[in-house]
Amino acid sequence: MNRDSDDLPIAIRLANRNDVPTILTIATQTATASHWTAEHYSHVAEKGILAIAESLTSLCGFIAVQTLTDDWEIQNLVVLPEFRRNRVAEKLVRNVMQSARNRHATRILLEVRESNAAARAFYEKLGFKMDGTRNGYYKDPRESAIMYFARL
Ligand SMILES: CC(C)(COP(=O)(O)OP(=O)(O)OC[C@H]1O[C@@H](n2cnc3c(N)ncnc32)[C@H](O)[C@@H]1OP(=O)(O)O)[C@@H](O)C(=O)NCCC(=O)NCCS
Repeated sequence: MNRDSDDLPIAIRLANRNDVPTILTIATQTATASHWTAEHYSHVAEKGILAIAESLTSLCGFIAVQTLTDDWEIQNLVVLPEFRRNRVAEKLVRNVMQSARNRHATRILLEVRESNAAARAFYEKLGFKMDGTRNGYYKDPRESAIMYFARL
């Protein structure tokens, strides 16, 4: 079966200033997301990559990536609950990986809360490898970070 033909139709594009309020709302409603200010999102949109996935009717997810060195870092990735398990996050991450290859980056890095089983399963499905632990890295609640990387 060709799963692509069954997928929810989405388009991926770079976010602009007008998208930031919706991105903020989605992030605020997601306990496991990084919680940033509007200024921080605007900064990532300008200096890195802030991309969104849109269905025919609404914004369904976003990804924020720091691109300062050869190691790009996924800093935030959220798909709205009603759109999950439709390969929206997979398309956002694969899109970023292709951009990184085009721009000769060598690795994609990220860290997730140790207890974030969904995100860890997701990244491992995409081939990311564990790369150590940062004890007590997160606050509210305090928790270790698991670091992951993928070679490009
Ligand atoms: C993690 C997250 C981004 C995944 O988004 P998604 O669009 O549902 O993921 P996809 O549909 O692209 O998943 C692709 C594959 O990853 C794996 N996967 C995704 N979510 C999973 C889950 N909850 N449990 C187990 N495996 C999962 C599966 O193998 C899945 O393929 P399948 O549906 O054919 O089995 C989403 O759950 C989310 O927004 N979580 C809250 C925010 C967050 O924690 N972000 C990560 C920290 S930066």
